[in-house]
Amino acid sequence: MSAPPLERLPRHLAIIMDGNGRWAEQRGLPRHQGHAAGAKAVNRTVTACRELGIEVLTLYAFSEQNWARPEDEVEALMQLLHDYVHDERFEILDNGIRLTTIGDVDRLPAWVRRPLQALCDESAGNRGMVLALALSYGGREEVVHSVRRLAAEVAAGRLDPAAIDEAAIARGLYTAQWPDPDLVLRTSGEARLSNFLLWQSAYAELYFTDVAWPDFQREHLEEALRHYAHRERRFGKTGAQIRDEEAPC
Ligand code: FPP
Repeated sequence: MSAPPLERLPRHLAIIMDGNGRWAEQRGLPRHQGHAAGAKAVNRTVTACRELGIEVLTLYAFSEQNWARPEDEVEALMQLLHDYVHDERFEILDNGIRLTTIGDVDRLPAWVRRPLQALCDESAGNRGMVLALALSYGGREEVVHSVRRLAAEVAAGRLDPAAIDEAAIARGLYTAQWPDPDLVLRTSGEARLSNFLLWQSAYAELYFTDVAWPDFQREHLEEALRHYAHRERRFGKTGAQIRDEEAPC
C-alpha cells in the first residue's frame, strides 16, 4: 500500500474516537476496558501523526455531554487521562509536541487537571505537532462562550455590533490560533459530528470508517489520509476555479 502523499496532508486532523464501549461489549468486557484499549490507540495515532508531519491533531476525548455517563465510567476515563499525562510525558517532551486542551477543563477533577495543566505548561514552548485534547468540550457551548464575550464587549460600549463578523467569533474559540480542521475522521461506523468543532468544520472533509477506535492502526490512518489527498476542496467555488488557482504560473 502506498504512503499518503505528504504534500497533500491535512494541516489539522481532528478525530472523533468512537466505539470503545461497543468494542468492549462485543468481547464481554466492561466498557472501561474498551476505553483502556482506546488509550493505546491514542498513543499509536499520536506517534503516527507526528512522524507523518501533521501540524495539529485534535482528539475528542471527553465531551461536555459525557459527564452524564455512569459515574464509574466517568471515573475510569478521568483515570486514563491522568495516566496518559503521567506515562506519555517523555513522548511529548522529547518529541517537541505541544500538548494543549480545548473545552471547559475547569470541570475536570483537580487530581487530573493539575498534572495535565503542568504538562501543557511544560510543553508550551515546543514547536512540533500541536496535540489538542478536547475535554469537557462541546461545539455549541464553545460558540455560545465566544458570542457571550462579544456581547459583554457590546454592553460595555467597547464594540459596535456591526463590527461582529465571522472573524470576531472565530477569535473567541479555543482553536483561534490554528487552521480549521481540514479532515474530521470518525471511527466505528457512525456518521455524525456529535457537537465536535461545529464552527471550525464548516469546510472540513469528513471521513468515516467502520473500524472501532481500539482497533485503529496506522494503516487505517494512512488510508484516511490517502482518501483526503484525492478530495477536491472547493470552498464554495467551482472545480475549474480551484484547478486554475492550483496550476503553476
Ligand atoms: C467514545 O466511545 C469514546 C469516548 C467517550 C472516550 C474516548 C477516550 C479514549 C479514547 C481514551 C482516553 C483518552 C486519552 C486521551 C488518554 P464510546 O464509549 O461512546 O463508544 P460506544 O459508542 O461504542 O459506546
